[in-house]
Amino acid sequence: MPSTTAADPKLAIDGGSPVSDAMINMISVKLTDADIEAATGVLKSGMLAQGKHVAEFETRFAEISDARFGAACANGTCALSLAYEALFDAGDEVLVPGWTYVATASMVVARGATPVFCDVDPHTYNLDPADAERRITSKTKAIAATHLYGCPADIEAIQAIASKHNLRVIYDAAQAHLATHNGKGVGAFGDAITYSFYATKNMTTGEGGMVLTNDEATDKQVRLLRSHGETSKYTHEFIGRNYRMSDIEGAIGCSQLDRIQSLTNRRREIAATLDRALGDIAGLNAPQTIEGDEHAYHLYAIRMDPSAFTCDRDTFIKALNAEGVGTAVHYPKPLHDQPCFAEFITEPLPVSAELATTLFCAPIHPDVTNEQASMIAQALAKVANAYRK
Ligand SMILES: Cc1ncc(COP(=O)(O)O)c(C=O)c1O
Repeated sequence: MPSTTAADPKLAIDGGSPVSDAMINMISVKLTDADIEAATGVLKSGMLAQGKHVAEFETRFAEISDARFGAACANGTCALSLAYEALFDAGDEVLVPGWTYVATASMVVARGATPVFCDVDPHTYNLDPADAERRITSKTKAIAATHLYGCPADIEAIQAIASKHNLRVIYDAAQAHLATHNGKGVGAFGDAITYSFYATKNMTTGEGGMVLTNDEATDKQVRLLRSHGETSKYTHEFIGRNYRMSDIEGAIGCSQLDRIQSLTNRRREIAATLDRALGDIAGLNAPQTIEGDEHAYHLYAIRMDPSAFTCDRDTFIKALNAEGVGTAVHYPKPLHDQPCFAEFITEPLPVSAELATTLFCAPIHPDVTNEQASMIAQALAKVANAYRK
């Protein structure tokens, strides 16, 4: 019998001997000497503002993502804002998942458009295309779908709906660097694909973002919007912003690009270990991708089947923490429960609501060692057995 009960998950399950003595953390942000040298090189040059390093970063990031064009900007929220401003108007309706980071939807509101919340698929946690299609009205102009946790959304179905109803598609790929669909980077699909390079993302520039597109006119518009609508020096064709990226960030981005493929491969190796382990643990579901897609594993989200256990998700993760395994909940609230969207909610979103109480994330960053990956697997099995119904 486990010595830890559902009400007391503070001790390791066997009464004091955790799987890992040291906490295996959810996050590890490490800049290499090369990253630091790239940044100091720019600092020493005195040419700090957007320049040749940002230009190189844009070209190279677009290339590895299979997009034709890339425009870097200050962060992933700005990237969404730029893409939205280029692709739909104030007053339009935009289909958004109820289960994503707030910015995917909040920037629709900031654009003056109306977010129409749709439910998500219970396996990929991404926009449910069928649920989205039934919410289309004469005012619907776009779909903003997230490749959440690094898992590509159902691109085929979303693109088919968009063609049928003449909608623009923006994919929020803030968590999906190097994710692929049918052998191509996700940058190849949609009218715009937005990224974040925030400190904890799969690759980082500290803060940073990018809008990828395969349409030259969209790229041009995004670039103008990014910098005050300035078509020539001090001529401002329309109202824009200053959402530019600095060359310090651009240089760090270029340096990170030298190893993003190997970092992503490492995430996929750790995921494979955890997938194998979860295959033997009834009631805990590993992340799933649509056939032909490759996950980028920004987060390794595990869905707990509450009917298999005597405890709830929060008790389960406290017990994992006691075993020395860090966890995170992305997200504790679905968007339709967020006060800032109260005026836009029309119907319950049952899958999104359920995920808020059943999903948790285990460490997947590239610094997790093989030994730690095995410990995470062991801890998952140990806690699952202790709370098995
Ligand atoms: C899905 C998603 N979209 C957008 C963003 C916003 O990116 P940023 O934090 O760079 O503004 C994030 C960042 O966490 C995200 O995870």
